[in-house]
Amino acid sequence: MNGLYEYELSHAAVVLCRDLLGLKEGETCIITADTESDVRVVNVTAAAAFGCGAKPMVVTIPAPRGVGRAADPMLPAEPLTAALSEADTWIEYNNKWLLYSTPYEKALKKNKRLRHQCFVGMTADMMVRCIGRVDHAALSEFLKQVLDLTVKTKRWRFTTPVGEKLEFENSVDSNRVYGMDDGFALEPGSHFMSGQIGWTPEWETIRGTIVFDGSVVPPVGRLKEPVFLDVEKGRVVRIRGGAEAKTFEQWLESFRDPQMFVPAHVCWGFNPGAVLTGEILEDERVWGSTEWGLGEIGSCLVKPEGVPAASHTDGICLNTSAWLDGRQFLAEGRVVYPGFEGLLNRLGR
Ligand SMILES: [Fe+2]
Repeated sequence: MNGLYEYELSHAAVVLCRDLLGLKEGETCIITADTESDVRVVNVTAAAAFGCGAKPMVVTIPAPRGVGRAADPMLPAEPLTAALSEADTWIEYNNKWLLYSTPYEKALKKNKRLRHQCFVGMTADMMVRCIGRVDHAALSEFLKQVLDLTVKTKRWRFTTPVGEKLEFENSVDSNRVYGMDDGFALEPGSHFMSGQIGWTPEWETIRGTIVFDGSVVPPVGRLKEPVFLDVEKGRVVRIRGGAEAKTFEQWLESFRDPQMFVPAHVCWGFNPGAVLTGEILEDERVWGSTEWGLGEIGSCLVKPEGVPAASHTDGICLNTSAWLDGRQFLAEGRVVYPGFEGLLNRLGR
């Protein structure tokens, strides 16, 4: 986008505060940001929260040199924890995210009513595309039905136009958790931008070739050429491609941790407004894409404590074709499974 989209941005902020966060008269709303955040996004959200009758408070900090727990030494930890521990709602626009930092962990543990919306790296354009112009009721219903289908499916097959050929099975273990982000933050806890469903399949069954052709973050960002990952029995055994594939392979090897070569999760991307920008928050929601994470697995996907690793990376596979127990669900990114026509129409897909 090249325009300023002032009117549309204001509308997106209203959708966020009124519909998704459900801000009520008199509720407190902390908006956190850092010096890398988009100031327009921060200000328009504070105005919309005030317009809902809520009491907004903007907290901007110098951008830490790391994210999550790595940001701890650079954070004003006590006052930040204190403020978040007493708020009704928290909208996080920090570019260097506070999610999983010590103030985050402490505040969420202490404050059982806190509704947290995490929008790391949000820009004005993204807010208009992925929040303001989306029919969230339709998207939520669509995602619930896709989640239902995902949980029921045992055998999976993915292909993509650039050469992905992959098979795997879902785990029957009850320790697996299926995560779904429909954008609504009406319940206490952390919530993320709409348009993603993620889960961890049975590692041992993953075989074939994953091809990242959207972005891989870290260490590359938006890709210029595809990166091929040959997978045998749930481990990446070979990485092929050009210079970016080499950079990726060297980055994975630098940790000297075998878990960095294990696929940690797979995700559907289904935000009808998302486009590929190199910003992973949006890239992983590009409609009809799939994402594979490698490395650490959070407790949000595998109970009770996840699987530790030295780090984590995510790669995007665009225009996925997918067969669920032999029935085609996606054809090069388009949903072709029967029964979704009405919702797809409302979503402009
Ligand atoms: Fe991931």
